[in-house]
Amino acid sequence: MLPFRSLAWTGHSLRLLDQRRLPHVTEYVECTTVAEVAAAIAAMTVRGAPAIGVAAAYGVVLAAQAVTDFDSLPAVLQTAAASLKAARPTAVNLAWAVDRLLQVSGPDLATWQARLLAAAHRLYQEDAEINYQIGCQAQAVIPNEATVIHHCNTGALATVDYGTALGAIRVAAEQGKKLMVYLDETRPRLQGASLSAYELLAYGIPFRVMVDGASGHLMRTQKVDLCIVGCDRVAANGDVANKIGTYNLALAAKAHNVPFYVACPLSSLDLTTPHGEAIPIEERDSREITHIGDRPIAPLGTPVYNPAFDVTPAAYVTAFITEKGLVYPPYGETLPRLREMLS
Ligand code: MRU
Repeated sequence: MLPFRSLAWTGHSLRLLDQRRLPHVTEYVECTTVAEVAAAIAAMTVRGAPAIGVAAAYGVVLAAQAVTDFDSLPAVLQTAAASLKAARPTAVNLAWAVDRLLQVSGPDLATWQARLLAAAHRLYQEDAEINYQIGCQAQAVIPNEATVIHHCNTGALATVDYGTALGAIRVAAEQGKKLMVYLDETRPRLQGASLSAYELLAYGIPFRVMVDGASGHLMRTQKVDLCIVGCDRVAANGDVANKIGTYNLALAAKAHNVPFYVACPLSSLDLTTPHGEAIPIEERDSREITHIGDRPIAPLGTPVYNPAFDVTPAAYVTAFITEKGLVYPPYGETLPRLREMLS
């Protein structure tokens, strides 16, 4: 049983574990309106592509539950969907989850509202199952006694449960594999040092946190078996948007012949986006760079470049690990074929 839950439906509200305060403070935030859910996604109270998708689905539910007459429901849902999708632009899971809820309808207000809630619960349930499947599929490429590099946080905190890349590490440990996991601290928001370290401590998996710039040195001087990361959006040609610093890690992995795997639920695959250049990259507040907590570390007024994500070209990805199996190049053919097989 996990000692934490990233999000949960209470029966009348969405309860979020405030990830901005972890690991030292465990505090929950309760959202009772769609505006509060959109604000929590934008502020990264809840974060990680799958988790923000599921949170947004409950945001749609809250918008619907505030409606008292059937005729106004469609317009309310459209407005809610637009505000949720705008909260963070890069992770395609957000729009994907909201669009799934928009496909729901009902003959009267109460039925429609109940169906929306059921659809959000289904997404919640499916997310945990899909992540566990990704973890199982990943075992084909995670040997026993492996040394692994991981970037950002992609675990149970970034999803409903298990997680994608960190979920694969957790499943490996559950199967008795001995691992050493090097966690990129993941500047500027430090999801590796604060969140992934918190999770691996809870699971009892050996790890070390390192600064992002240490991964090249580690791969040059020690045997590293693989890098594994998550994704926020995978374009049709296999280009991957993920947390800033992923591309640097992929470049270093390529230079040292270390396999670079991307754990990817099929909800992160966006075949309508042809390549990485077309993926919108979120830029966040300069304060994330100029301050650590409330403490300024740069001169007042320092100009900042703060992209929250980067794009790793498909050529750097050894394979995608999906809930349906591993996908290898040429991704322009294999990714669309996978989607076709499933539709
Ligand atoms: O800005 P964040 O913390 O939401 O970014 C998270 C990531 O980049 C993860 O790697 C990605 O969302 C996959 S989480 C399973």
